[in-house]
Amino acid sequence: MARGKQPGKVQRAPKVHRAVVTHTVGDFEAAFWPDEQPVDNAVVMTMGALHEGHAALVRAARKQVGRDGRVAVTVFVNPLQFGADEDLERYPRDLDADVRLAEENGADVVFAPSVDEVYPNGEPQVRLTAGPMGDRFEGTTRPGHFDGVLTVVAKLLHITDPDFALFGEKDAQQLAVIQRMVADLDFDVEIIGVPTVREEDGLALSSRNRYLSAEDRAHALALSKALFAGRDVAAQGPKAVREAAAAALDGAEGVALDYLALIDPHDFTEVADDFQGGAVLAVAAKVGTTRLIDNVHVICR
Ligand code: PAJ
Repeated sequence: MARGKQPGKVQRAPKVHRAVVTHTVGDFEAAFWPDEQPVDNAVVMTMGALHEGHAALVRAARKQVGRDGRVAVTVFVNPLQFGADEDLERYPRDLDADVRLAEENGADVVFAPSVDEVYPNGEPQVRLTAGPMGDRFEGTTRPGHFDGVLTVVAKLLHITDPDFALFGEKDAQQLAVIQRMVADLDFDVEIIGVPTVREEDGLALSSRNRYLSAEDRAHALALSKALFAGRDVAAQGPKAVREAAAAALDGAEGVALDYLALIDPHDFTEVADDFQGGAVLAVAAKVGTTRLIDNVHVICR
């Protein structure tokens, strides 16, 4: 009798399903494709420091592929997408906690490669570019950011070769440029957007929220409040939306506004005052020393 087994007792499967943790492309491939059985699979790409927003993506991935499908979560802080004065060095890292959250929400495999594993030839000489869509809004403050994002997303899509890749609407411009890359360059994957997960008081979850002091956190609420104020008047058209959101941010304490914009999600340009239909009301601001972004969908009439 195996150790620990008691006669007459039914052995139950462990409650929490375990994920295989891999660090190299070879180990990942062996874990993600253990046999030749074709099953649906999905990937959720992250930079770690996982929270309930990431968890929602993993659960959506599991739902998408079903119980018999496979879900991979990648954890990689991609140096290529950080500017020289950004938080690459101090970006929060806690792989054990990330693995726990990933497996509790249905991941089969976690892929947490080193920088050398992802970029074995050093800095890539050939990169993707997001083009004009990547130069606006986030791209103004973070030049080259979306080129770095697309380059790593393309590489991780090649390594993981999924049927589905899920990204958060929280990073609306990122989702838009990834969708555009997949369409323009014929990537064989379906990109799925997942709605933003928020705290009860409206603050959008972000790995960077942990940098906020209690005072910053209170100030940061002005962002989601402004977006909701804009959304509330969407029936009156784009001008009303912009004015309501701007009024809510006007004089907001501790908030240094970067941009507030009402954006056509297809090409990521600002919409005209007579625009009708679905748009993204987006905001970026520094709260204390932390740069935050947020957005909501609005239907303008
Ligand atoms: P990261 O910031 O870790 O986010 C990973 C994914 O989680 C992204 O698709 C992001 O939009 C989503 N996400 C973050 N906060 C969310 C929230 N509150 N609700 C819903 N989804 C949320 O985005 C990146 O990493 C990187 O740029 C990456 C795509 C991994 C490429 O390096």
